[in-house]
Amino acid sequence: MCGIVGYIGKQSALPIILDGLKRLEYRGYDSGGIAILDEDASYQKKVVGRIRDLEQAVQEDLRSGKLKGQTTLGIGHTRWATHGTPTTANAHPHTDCHSRIFLVHNGIIENHAFIRSALEREGHRFSSQTDTEVLAHLIEQHFSGEPGTTLEHAIAQTAHHIKGTFGIAVFALDDPDKIVVARRGSPLLIGVGEGEYIIASDASAIIKHTKQVVYLHDNEIGILKPDGYTITTLDREPVERAIDQIEWDIEESQKDGFPHFMLKEIFEAPQVIENSSRGRLLLEEGNAKLGGIEAVADKLRAVRRIIIAACGTSYYAALIGRYMLEEYAGIPVVVEHASEFRYHKPIFQEGDALLVVSQSGETADTLEALREAKAKGVLTLGIVNVVGSTIARETDAGIYNHAGPEIAVASTKAFVSQLTVLTLLSLWLGRQHNLSFVFGTRIAKELALLPQKAARVLALEPAIAAIAKTYADTEHFLYLGRKYNWPAAMEGALKLKEISYIHAEGYPAGEMKHGPIALINERCPSFVLAPSDSVYEKVLSNIEEIRARGGRVIAIGTEGDRRLASLADDCIFIPRTLEMLSPLLTALPLYLFAYHIAVLRGCDVDKPRNLAKSVTVE
Ligand code: AGP
Repeated sequence: MCGIVGYIGKQSALPIILDGLKRLEYRGYDSGGIAILDEDASYQKKVVGRIRDLEQAVQEDLRSGKLKGQTTLGIGHTRWATHGTPTTANAHPHTDCHSRIFLVHNGIIENHAFIRSALEREGHRFSSQTDTEVLAHLIEQHFSGEPGTTLEHAIAQTAHHIKGTFGIAVFALDDPDKIVVARRGSPLLIGVGEGEYIIASDASAIIKHTKQVVYLHDNEIGILKPDGYTITTLDREPVERAIDQIEWDIEESQKDGFPHFMLKEIFEAPQVIENSSRGRLLLEEGNAKLGGIEAVADKLRAVRRIIIAACGTSYYAALIGRYMLEEYAGIPVVVEHASEFRYHKPIFQEGDALLVVSQSGETADTLEALREAKAKGVLTLGIVNVVGSTIARETDAGIYNHAGPEIAVASTKAFVSQLTVLTLLSLWLGRQHNLSFVFGTRIAKELALLPQKAARVLALEPAIAAIAKTYADTEHFLYLGRKYNWPAAMEGALKLKEISYIHAEGYPAGEMKHGPIALINERCPSFVLAPSDSVYEKVLSNIEEIRARGGRVIAIGTEGDRRLASLADDCIFIPRTLEMLSPLLTALPLYLFAYHIAVLRGCDVDKPRNLAKSVTVE
């Protein structure tokens, strides 16, 4: 998501903040800004683009004298848009009505629309489309600026109104010489220097100055002054927190201590399922709330066919989404390779809708499929991760993933997020049609349990790494699955191909006997997805067919399945879940397996040869 940096101490804040923001750029960003206490006045600069653009704009103001720059206190931000497209107005810091309170934020305020309309009714004037800005005006509301009223008190009051996540850094002209930080659900660290403090959302902005850090916990406030800091709960109870020592170097800190971004992003899966569902899962109603498609809800209710166009990993997520939408929303779905879509003369019918799925929102093939459908007057929807991306802007409506920036070229957490969003869409559409309250509730409650089930699968990493070691020299692989897990098998094969350069083919398990079985021998193992579901027995038969021809089998099954354990050479067990949700769990061992094989083969896991993170050419 976003990056936060702040400084208070005896050095000049400006270069420290700008340098810190540069160290956060790896997280993905679309705009940035700073606010500093410039002598007794405030100075604020925000740009769309890279931090070096921000730095250049600040340098110009220093040269012109608009900025004196003799300041020891300030905050900065790199934005990865979630609400509101990347514009200067939407960049942080955000301020109150009188530009006397300055705030940067990382997280998502779920009830921002409700708060905003209440504040506007009380006369507050907003200048952005962001959820964040409501925080600045709420603090203003609680911070009368009267003598004795403290900024930290106003922030504590504000936090009690907020649903969602926040990591914030704030300073106010009417309560100067301090920075106040607070967090709930988004990371915030305080770097403890000699008579100075650097706050950040990520250790990589701090390490250059100090490795002594204090981690703020949820629902805590930090008050930082040049002569010291205090931490309290939101209820203002004092908190004693030991100082930790960061052991990482800069490079490692950007990966939170993981050796590669890809592994970090695989381990983000539980958080990604939570973030993609946050504020959208209506457990008690067995339904979903999807604000991004409300504007076309009536058209969607009447939709008679959905065509999904996507590429790569997003295409495999779309194939799973097809099963979900057909089985639970009762809507016919056609899934197309976006790269083929406009070359086979697609025939659109009354009641069609085109859904495009794209992590980057910039994939040329997918964008052209979207434009082809739009030119024919077809209703277009998007499931996109990057806010304000071209595809997101050109669809009639859509649902953002909120998966956070995906840095590794090989997509992993985006796939998990796409399946989460497709589940929500199936729930939303299904409950408009024949999906019962009872089953809708069952899906909603199981999706809410999935983060902890995904964490249990990730805890199997050492065992999966050990299995990978025995297959690292393999040159050919078959990946097999049925129904929901056939596209997951395809995705697993893609991941192995992409990062380890091993030839791997994904197939519907039932297809194996129509040819690929000729490949089976002791040098061509099969990875078979066999969770306990409606096609389990048939998959077991396929495993028997492979074994009968001397093929080795790695199987993914449901915890406790002793039959499978007796058949496969290696078994990885996942928690029981609904059939439609099983790919959110089966994908994780496939990712970890591919990752460890690639590492063992000395491949560049985060930047595989020949690949780009976003394929912006046809
Ligand atoms: C997936 O690991 C690949 N990086 C690639 O197949 C990717 O999924 C495809 O290019 C589509 O990208 P998009 O989701 O950004 O549109």
